[in-house]
Amino acid sequence: MLIHLAFSLLLLLRCGFSISDFDKYSFNRAELNHYKKQVKDLFYFAHDNYLEKAYPFDELRPISCVPNVRNFDDPDDIIKNDVLGNFSVTLIDSLTTIAIFNDRSKFRQVAELIKDRFPQKFDLDSTVQVFETTIRVVGGLISSHLYATDPSKQVYLGPEYDGFLLDLAQDMADRLLPAYLTTTGLPLARINLKHGLVGLTADMVAENNVAAMASPMFEFTMLSHLTNNEKYGAVTRYAMNKTWELKSELNLLPMSFNPETGQCYSHFTGIGASIDSFYEYALKGAVLFNDEHLHEIWHDSFEALKMYCKADWFFVNAHPTTGQMSAPWVDSLGAFFPGLQVLAGDVEDAKFKNIMSLKLWDTFGGIPERWLFQKEVAQDAGLSLEEKKALKERANVPLEWYPLRPEFVESTYFLYRATRDPFYLNIGVAVLESFQTRFKYKCGFGGIQDVMTGEAQDRMETFVLSETLKYLYLLFDEDNEIHHTRDNVVFSTEAHPMWISASTMKSYSQNKYFTDLLYLQHLKACRDLDDQLKAKSNRRFFLKERLPEFAKTFFSEDKKTAIRHSTKKWASFKKVCPVIETDTGPWQFSNVLNNFDRLFEIDHRYNDTLIKPLYLAASEPLEINTRFYTRWANQSHCNCRAPATTTSFELIMDMPGRGQLEQLPNGSITSDTLSGRWKFRIEKLQPGLVDIYGQEITSAIFETADCKNLFKPSLQTGLYSPTLLYRITALNGMQLPSDGQVVLNRTRLLEVPENANVLRQLFGYTPHHQLMFESTPIINLYLA
Ligand SMILES: *[C@@H]1O[C@H](CO)[C@@H](O)[C@H](O)[C@H]1NC(C)=O
Ligand SMILES: *[C@@H]1O[C@H](CO)[C@@H](O)[C@H](O)[C@H]1NC(C)=O
Ligand SMILES: *[C@@H]1O[C@H](CO)[C@@H](O)[C@H](O)[C@H]1NC(C)=O
Ligand SMILES: *[C@@H]1O[C@H](CO)[C@@H](O)[C@H](O)[C@H]1NC(C)=O
Ligand SMILES: *[C@@H]1O[C@H](CO)[C@@H](O)[C@H](O)[C@H]1NC(C)=O
Ligand SMILES: *[C@@H]1O[C@H](CO)[C@@H](O)[C@H](O)[C@H]1NC(C)=O
Repeated sequence: MLIHLAFSLLLLLRCGFSISDFDKYSFNRAELNHYKKQVKDLFYFAHDNYLEKAYPFDELRPISCVPNVRNFDDPDDIIKNDVLGNFSVTLIDSLTTIAIFNDRSKFRQVAELIKDRFPQKFDLDSTVQVFETTIRVVGGLISSHLYATDPSKQVYLGPEYDGFLLDLAQDMADRLLPAYLTTTGLPLARINLKHGLVGLTADMVAENNVAAMASPMFEFTMLSHLTNNEKYGAVTRYAMNKTWELKSELNLLPMSFNPETGQCYSHFTGIGASIDSFYEYALKGAVLFNDEHLHEIWHDSFEALKMYCKADWFFVNAHPTTGQMSAPWVDSLGAFFPGLQVLAGDVEDAKFKNIMSLKLWDTFGGIPERWLFQKEVAQDAGLSLEEKKALKERANVPLEWYPLRPEFVESTYFLYRATRDPFYLNIGVAVLESFQTRFKYKCGFGGIQDVMTGEAQDRMETFVLSETLKYLYLLFDEDNEIHHTRDNVVFSTEAHPMWISASTMKSYSQNKYFTDLLYLQHLKACRDLDDQLKAKSNRRFFLKERLPEFAKTFFSEDKKTAIRHSTKKWASFKKVCPVIETDTGPWQFSNVLNNFDRLFEIDHRYNDTLIKPLYLAASEPLEINTRFYTRWANQSHCNCRAPATTTSFELIMDMPGRGQLEQLPNGSITSDTLSGRWKFRIEKLQPGLVDIYGQEITSAIFETADCKNLFKPSLQTGLYSPTLLYRITALNGMQLPSDGQVVLNRTRLLEVPENANVLRQLFGYTPHHQLMFESTPIINLYLA
């Protein structure tokens, strides 16, 4: 009794201390420490339950409190069995989160448990997915081994640690590697850990995606560095190289192939499911391994994405050979990309893309696996009958689940590290509160099976503990050792920290060996075949398709929104910017809340597809959570741009050669040539509408534009006065400011007869060398 009392008293004292020590949304140290501790408590709540109720099985079901077990009866149940290898994957995958907590005794305890669990290593009759097993098991073990052996880390295990984590990682890698023994060298999607390729059905191996074919290079090259055995890196890197060779002429990669033949199965590319970690590992591999060629792959692939896929708020899917938009949806997995952009130094655009994820979270209470941003296009986008039916029923959310994926939190964390804007801490607080209330069940955390109804999902995937809660913890943990290290540390795609010490790097370059004849011969055979194919012809895996010289697609602004502007419209947009009385507390700066006039643009622009399910109707958008907003937003700095009522379209021009455009510091773009691909985003300007910069268009534009003496062939009279004008708002992924111009060098261009022809025939120009399209002047495209 006495002990009990004392314990309650202690609890009271501790709670009393933490509450009185901070004022919510001040984000002082005490408040951040409080959140950080809460995240850790949540983690251990679920982890303890897993150990008690599900271990040694792979996952714990959070609602029914029973293990989620591999389907041993039906080996063809790949959806379930891809990840659940009967190897306690939750235990392995979440160990580095414990390392991030600096909890040495728990780290040691779980590591010992792993050691005892696998006396036979991974000698299991389980067919699993190579990619998933690599990132969760091989990656988790390698990263844990790094922590265990690095004396500068809090969870360092000291000399008595004998390296069993690395041995296990290597054992698993040896069982996965035979998946690469194909004619092409591209890996099969699945393999049996005990029997290799024996007994796999055709369905299990006929298709593999780009992320899965390229990504294991990262974990396996890391393994090579730690073991000096070069084969892991060499075999998987060959596959990464080969995957990149499957790109189209535009440097865009279709997402799905037959790994045995190289036959292409998909007709679009993007940044979401099936391709996400290809980009991620090109950049992160370049950083971790100091690898120039990987950096080139990142650079070229990212440039292509910026050119063909980048829209204001997200990256669209595009056809790999024409570069035209296809498949008008956003995958939840793409929410990781802003974090990667931060790593690449592209912080400004990352902010925009992350706001899209935020709006999805506001709307659906999580991020649906797939959201359609354009209803109309969707109907004729070549979907199958079933897909069309599903589309009708589910309207804007064709894939309706949110399994507590980490990507939104991950990008929010990286943006916070880069900007220190409390805006991102506020996102973290909202996600934390959702974990404490909406996602918490008796034994763990369950996501949403259907965002439209709020139906719960009785599953806790391993990434909840290994990634989502890890990034959330790090968001609040200013002092984490990972934030103060000088290592070249990067997070794997499963959020396992990886770094290579200088001594490891040196030792690897001096002592590496490659003696495994099977894989030496395999690589030689692959390369010989490459040479033969090259000698035969230059043909790649798929045929080149050229665009007609102009391809025009309607994009983003929906025709319906081009309603004539009226004073009523002006009144309504003002309401979008919330007016909340600011309190007298110490006001500090949130760049996103203040001085950013587009925070509510998405709400308007995608109003017809961002539809809140009824059960969430009363929920408050998290960015204007009253207490946060009153503290961090200063009404004198909060402005909302008027939503655009104009329409825009994209125009792709394909000219032989490779030209270079230059964007000047003031945003204008110049070029000396017309060669290469040009992707214009063009806005139709008409008086009375509001343009994309939030300005009302007046008839004064006809005076500033060069509209005199225009000739229109279709009109009998010839001379005419245009009623609308065009303006370029983006070119090859580069945004133009409202007064930005595109200036072509007249002397240079007209020197070349073909160029002169294109300019005259495709564009035509006004007497003062303003270019036109469809006989309409483009007010900011000049020959000078
Ligand atoms: C699954 O793992 C458990 C625990 O290690 C083991 O006892 C069991 O034999 C395994 N089942 C199969 C079918 O491999
Ligand atoms: C991958 O490509 C780069 C650049 O061509 C080359 O240096 C490297 O050796 C290739 N790696 C493998 C394993 O083929
Ligand atoms: C809000 O901004 C205005 C203008 O910069 C400034 O004068 C005012 O002090 C700010 N309000 C607070 C509460 O800091
Ligand atoms: C979205 O559209 C609905 C229905 O047309 C309208 O009631 C609502 O005010 C709009 N919201 C925004 C933010 O434009
Ligand atoms: C941008 O800079 C270029 C070169 O300095 C200049 O010619 C052009 O007029 C500028 N454009 C604007 C809109 O200021
Ligand atoms: C255009 O090209 C000519 C010929 O190469 C060059 O002399 C001139 O400086 C260029 N003009 C501009 C504005 O760059």
